[in-house]
Amino acid sequence: MAPRRASITSIEDLRRLAERRVPRMFYDYVDCGSWTEGTYRANSEDLAKIPLRQRVGVDISKRTLASRMVGEAVTMPVALAPTGLAGMQWADGEILAARAAERFGVPFALSTVSVCSIEDVAAHTTRPFWFQLYMMKDRAFMERLIGRARDANCSALVLTLDLQVQGQRHKDIKNGLSTPPKPTLRNLVNLATKPRWCLGMLGTRRHTFRNIVGHVSGIEDVSSLAHWVSGQFDQSLSWEDVRWVRKLWDRKLILKGILDPEDARMAASTGADAIVVSNHGGRQLDGAPSTISMLPAVVEAVGDRTEVLFDGGVRSGQDVLKALAHGAQGVLVGRAFLYGLGAMGEEGVTYCLELLQKELDLTMALCGVTDIANAAHALLAPAQNVPPERQFARRA
Ligand code: GLV
Repeated sequence: MAPRRASITSIEDLRRLAERRVPRMFYDYVDCGSWTEGTYRANSEDLAKIPLRQRVGVDISKRTLASRMVGEAVTMPVALAPTGLAGMQWADGEILAARAAERFGVPFALSTVSVCSIEDVAAHTTRPFWFQLYMMKDRAFMERLIGRARDANCSALVLTLDLQVQGQRHKDIKNGLSTPPKPTLRNLVNLATKPRWCLGMLGTRRHTFRNIVGHVSGIEDVSSLAHWVSGQFDQSLSWEDVRWVRKLWDRKLILKGILDPEDARMAASTGADAIVVSNHGGRQLDGAPSTISMLPAVVEAVGDRTEVLFDGGVRSGQDVLKALAHGAQGVLVGRAFLYGLGAMGEEGVTYCLELLQKELDLTMALCGVTDIANAAHALLAPAQNVPPERQFARRA
């Protein structure tokens, strides 16, 4: 039974419900950063510190959030980020999230390390989705994956650059994270307290990394993400490899995991259509600066050469507005939608998007901003480094 909506008024409420409903190892996988989790916390804390400008006496009766991301029309400039193991937050999680995004009119990005496969998601949606890719040693497998994304009519490839080695997340090690969970006493005791989750999982055959299992030979254990990353991801990844992907893929290419202005310049020179300013949600280099603190310098570094998207720490419409006001063209949310998914499945993802939309719309209004294209006007002090024409100019 769905909870009474009056009891859920924020993403934090969805998080609390997900914490109760999702098995410990999968909840922890989402709600964690690497090592001290300092960067994970900084992403949200730095967003919270940015003051908005309260304005009155402006006609705010007509407002619009409609925009474009990487050439696509969107209801609001928010996309669902590629996240591993979404299908372990709720049975068939990636299909449900993609459907919720499609209905809402925003992009959905499917992770390589998802539970539902590219084909599973394509079979249950009509809006072309984005497919996220890691650079792996087995280039033939990569070519096949890219081919599968093309056949599934994916509109963009999101190449993630900041996870060639995995940052240590203490909780995952202690929990013995695996997909599906191993039948240890500890796991069985925990699962016994999650009947809704167990029932959902009994009703689906999607329990493994379906983009991988059955598509590569000679890999003995694909249940462990850490094992897969250390064995398969190519640590020699260079900008040459990025250009190799660019040549293979003639639709939109998005490079994710850019935090440094120098890297942003390199990324733009590969011909990528967009970059995502990201530190992988604080899950990789603990000690790296927050994404919002680096966004203006990255925007300045690339100028008009590529579109700049943003993720990290976004838990509200206010956060979305702040990122746009600092020069991002659009924002990706990961944990926020996973909390909705873990709390209430497809309805929870829709709920998350509705919450973000409502918060974004009302906050804009209170700042006297009527068009999301003018998000920069919502800041009390103009963002440093961002030239006025790059402060979220809507692109055709
Ligand atoms: C994978 O993307 C992870 O952060 O675990």
